[in-house]
Amino acid sequence: MSENILEVTNLCKHFGGVKAVDGISFKIPANSIQTIIGPNGAGKSTTLNLLSGVYLPTSGSIKYNGVEINTLSLHQRVHLGIARTFQKIRLFKQLSVIDNVIAGFHIHHKIPFWQYFIPAGEYKKNRLECQAQALELLDFIGLKDKANERAGSLSYGSQRMLEIARALATKPKVFMLDEPAAGLNDTEVQFLMSRLKLLQQQNMTIILVEHNMKLVMNIADQIFVMDHGEYLFDGSPAEVQSNPKVIAAYLGSEGATV
Ligand SMILES: Nc1ncnc2c1ncn2[C@@H]1O[C@H](COP(=O)(O)OP(=O)(O)OP(=O)(O)O)[C@@H](O)[C@H]1O
Ligand SMILES: [Mg+2]
Repeated sequence: MSENILEVTNLCKHFGGVKAVDGISFKIPANSIQTIIGPNGAGKSTTLNLLSGVYLPTSGSIKYNGVEINTLSLHQRVHLGIARTFQKIRLFKQLSVIDNVIAGFHIHHKIPFWQYFIPAGEYKKNRLECQAQALELLDFIGLKDKANERAGSLSYGSQRMLEIARALATKPKVFMLDEPAAGLNDTEVQFLMSRLKLLQQQNMTIILVEHNMKLVMNIADQIFVMDHGEYLFDGSPAEVQSNPKVIAAYLGSEGATV
């Protein structure tokens, strides 16, 4: 594995008295699949929110390819190649499936956002350019035959996959997913796993927050375990599964699904 694409040092996010993230540090090698696990409220989503720029940290440092990005907005980070999906699905449910993916491309195309809803000049031109690429992504994610359906009419699992396609349209180098397997059936989880492995083969770095341990243990190069906003343990799937602290705080509880 090559050098670290992300380096986090003493990262903290406090909301008043709540120490959602409290002094965590980790390094993520480029082209690896890193997962973050831990009980509910451990600070996993907040960590993704800090890495992606949804929140600015209370203190600490985030370096991307050796450059500090702490103060950059979510939008600026997407331009640098950092993309993510959210724990709660955030699609444009009234738009078609393919238009949701095309909206993901707009970051690189300077289209006024209202033109997605009221098609006009730039959008119409851009749509043609992006259509083929969007269909490729939909094919990759198993939704090509649903391209013209309304996003809101898709099953829950398909909506989650569509979120992934839309985030991939921004052409990320680091791709973060917050509980992508939540609500998916076993077949869908298997498919998700195969897609994430393919993305890794295409030189993407993946950061996965997940409670589905079958997925985590099958896919992770490294697992970072959090509890109460703090570091608890990190290691390979085998090391994490046999660590008494991790078992006591998380794996032995009902929070982790196997
Ligand atoms: N915007 C916010 N304002 C106040 N408190 C917050 C905010 N966001 C998160 N928290 C608190 O920070 C802590 C960590 O939350 P976070 O959502 O990061 O946990 P999580 O590990 O993702 O949990 P889950 O597995 O349930 O998704 C929780 O106590 C939560 O209530
Ligand atoms: Mg969460």
